[in-house]
Amino acid sequence: MNVVVFGAGYVGLVTGAVLAELEHHVTLIDVDPSKVAMINQAQPPIFEYGLENLLQRVRQSGMLEASMDPSQAVQNADIIFIAVGTPPLPDGAPNLDYVHQAAMTIGQHLGENRTYVIVNKATVPIGSANLVEMWIDDGFVQKWGHPIPEGVFTVASNPEFLREGTAIHDTLYPDRIVLGADHAWALERLIDLYQPILDQTFEPPGDLPRPLGIQRIPLITTDRLSAEMIKYAANAFLSTKISFANEMANICERVGADITTVMQGIGLDTRIGSKFLNAGIGWGGSCFGKDLAALIYTAKEYGYEPALLESTQHVNIQQRKGVIKRLQEELKTLKGRRIALWGLAFKPGTDDLRDAPSLSVIQELLHLNARVIVYDPVAMDNMRKQYPHWDIRYASSALAAVDGAHALLVMTEWDVFRQIPLAEIMSRLDFPVIIDGRNIFDPQEASRLGIRYRGIGR
Ligand code: UDX
Repeated sequence: MNVVVFGAGYVGLVTGAVLAELEHHVTLIDVDPSKVAMINQAQPPIFEYGLENLLQRVRQSGMLEASMDPSQAVQNADIIFIAVGTPPLPDGAPNLDYVHQAAMTIGQHLGENRTYVIVNKATVPIGSANLVEMWIDDGFVQKWGHPIPEGVFTVASNPEFLREGTAIHDTLYPDRIVLGADHAWALERLIDLYQPILDQTFEPPGDLPRPLGIQRIPLITTDRLSAEMIKYAANAFLSTKISFANEMANICERVGADITTVMQGIGLDTRIGSKFLNAGIGWGGSCFGKDLAALIYTAKEYGYEPALLESTQHVNIQQRKGVIKRLQEELKTLKGRRIALWGLAFKPGTDDLRDAPSLSVIQELLHLNARVIVYDPVAMDNMRKQYPHWDIRYASSALAAVDGAHALLVMTEWDVFRQIPLAEIMSRLDFPVIIDGRNIFDPQEASRLGIRYRGIGR
């Protein structure tokens, strides 16, 4: 099939590359010339495991191309994905300017003698399928002076659930595929597109194992509104699960229990499930915060007060503040203190800093006049680029960051950090204080070594 993807960001690029691997002809459209050039040279503009190899293969096979010019590709498309960014506005509502632009552009280039399925892949507010339909029609009218003939196109919703760091794996081996459409022909076309994934009939790319035992990926076909809602409900539930673990951690800390065993103890109940119960300094990333804010905004638009969702948000903010509170309890004043901070990315396996808990912690440390020395195995370049005026120091290694520091803060649970012996850290710190925001170290060993160790909820 001929597939066009608007937006070569995380979702668009990974989706496009995987579909090209499944032998669809994919054109990625982006307005950023440097991104387009990089992709065409098989250089991923983002850090994602396996993406460089994948891009190399689909560029070589000629199944994927990036371009700034949508005209030809759109006209000849069978399916057009909109995967542009929807960054949050200050009031929590998502900014739909890029979606609007993409939809208008699509409308301008549709032909009258084909049928098109336009798919909302970006997470857009409930009801956006109708909006996109209207904008596509506006684009067509602008170009041709008359409305688009009935039946030429329809808008469908196909939310993605991929996680950064395992994005290719999640796209090839999803827990489910959700398709929301108002017309049977659109659903059929989308099912055709995903057939190799649904049936797991493709040859897995060299560096990815095929999961054992999966016969067929569950498929949910529904109306567009329910599909849009599934995406928000999934992210709201996952972030609530984490905030719940964090609230339990705060109680554990006060009564003297250990959150890691408590969560293990409840997670084995199959009704609860053990995933996403790791307590820490809270969730971040490009999706959870934005989607939760958008869902709260939507609920309020309809006069509903979503108390549970607001608490999920509140617990997360408190969790980040707790890092500084613990540090102050140990060191008292932070003025002039050298604070080593391990991990900038919002989670391991990515260089993404969007809504990373490390950012608010660093800001607060700088505000309190501490000296901040950071180390992250992949996200430091991004940090330099995005926050060039922040007065922080970059260390050449995790241990170099700790040299002579008055405390160590662990913000991201990179594996390389877990492997560093506590004794080695202890020997380099000026004061033996570790605030372990991701519970990666053993509190008993730390206490044996004489470290003033503060985990989360233990
Ligand atoms: C998330 C969703 O998982 C994905 O389905 C959706 O499409 C996009 O948003 P992602 O943002 O890549 O994916 O990260 P995820 O792995 O879900 O982690 C989100 C945040 O939660 C991270 O900051 C992580 O550190 C934190 N987290 C996760 C916890 O604090 N505890 C946990 O137990 C799990």
